[in-house]
Amino acid sequence: MKTSEISGFYRLTPQERLNFLKEFAGLTEEEAKLLQNTGALPLEQANRMIENVVGATHLPLGIATNFIINEKEYLIPMAIEEPSVVAAASNAAKIAREKGGFLTESTPPVMIGQIQLTGVKDTRDAREKILGAKQEILKMANERDPVLVNLGGGAVDLEVRDIKTNLGPMMILHLLVDVRDAMGANVINTMCEGIAHFIEDMTGGKVFLRIVSNLAVHRLARAKAVFAAEALGGKDVVDGILQAYAFAAADPYRCATHNKGIMNGVIGVALATSNDTRALEAGAHAYAAVGGVYKPLSEWTRTAEGDLMGTVELPAALGIVGGATAVHPIAKVCRKILGVQSARELGEVMAAVGLANNLAAMRALATEGIQKGHLKLHAKNIATMAGAEGELVDIVAKRMIDEGKVSYDRATAILKEIEGKGSQG
Ligand code: MEV
Repeated sequence: MKTSEISGFYRLTPQERLNFLKEFAGLTEEEAKLLQNTGALPLEQANRMIENVVGATHLPLGIATNFIINEKEYLIPMAIEEPSVVAAASNAAKIAREKGGFLTESTPPVMIGQIQLTGVKDTRDAREKILGAKQEILKMANERDPVLVNLGGGAVDLEVRDIKTNLGPMMILHLLVDVRDAMGANVINTMCEGIAHFIEDMTGGKVFLRIVSNLAVHRLARAKAVFAAEALGGKDVVDGILQAYAFAAADPYRCATHNKGIMNGVIGVALATSNDTRALEAGAHAYAAVGGVYKPLSEWTRTAEGDLMGTVELPAALGIVGGATAVHPIAKVCRKILGVQSARELGEVMAAVGLANNLAAMRALATEGIQKGHLKLHAKNIATMAGAEGELVDIVAKRMIDEGKVSYDRATAILKEIEGKGSQG
């Protein structure tokens, strides 16, 4: 009987793990080779990044063009499996250029670490004690990372919150840490773990969790751009986009998809730079709901001239040093392409790309729909799936689009027809 309970799997080499996997899943030699092709990421490096490595997977890396952000020209690498996203960002950036491109800003890179304190008898007294010892606690936290302090960062503030839970009241400490150019989770977790005992001794309570919060409300990136009505397709298109925005602002079912469109851009850049996409996603959606109702991360209005103005604001828990951002060879190249000097700048770029994708999606949705744009690449994917290679991919895809029927069956039939003709002639 096959079992997935494999003692010591982590101790095996990637090749030994792969042999095991081949046996387990009945992989062919060819399939195993695909896994072993780790591209620009050497297998040994991949093996150090996560556990139980057998290979690497690959995503297309595209370059979004036309971006001007704060008067600087950017070419923006985006890693994404979805067709149309890179083209959409580039198109929106082209329209934004007419009015000067994107203006961005960000807050200092301050992240929150949470310490969950339970069983405190006198919460008022505990709060006074904790806040009274604030400087001492910050100093203790900073001793955990002198390098960060030397770089101008470190623990900067402490907040105490009381919450009610179904296991009774809890005191939640927020340690605010300026993490500079790091994503910050590691340093925050280390600091929180480092001060927990002191907090327990001081209050008589018991600490359970000591962990970064992904709701990074103090670390925000903002972008703003004006899109000329004429370049968008006229007043009717602006009206349509404002209708789309009003829909998202009033309805969480639509709003989730509206925000997903923003995250297409943000996560594309995050993946290209090997940032923690889950942290960004979690932070963005939690921030969208921070007022108690899930809201769009962007805002759209008509300017006095009748053009469309968009703004976006979202948490930017990302880094350019530490973790995979600094070791993944492709991430390093992508960072060079971007030319960003700080995590703040990268966050602002992500916000601008998110806004561009949001605009492009709403424009398509409010006019011809998004399927037309998607269809071309989708048809190529289907043609490839049906076995087309080389120039046949384009020929089969075009035939399907012209016929208005894009499906695996149709692609197979067209291929058969072409190949039949080829073998006759
Ligand atoms: C698809 O990846 C993203 C969109 O659904 C976003 C939106 O609906 O606004 C097109």
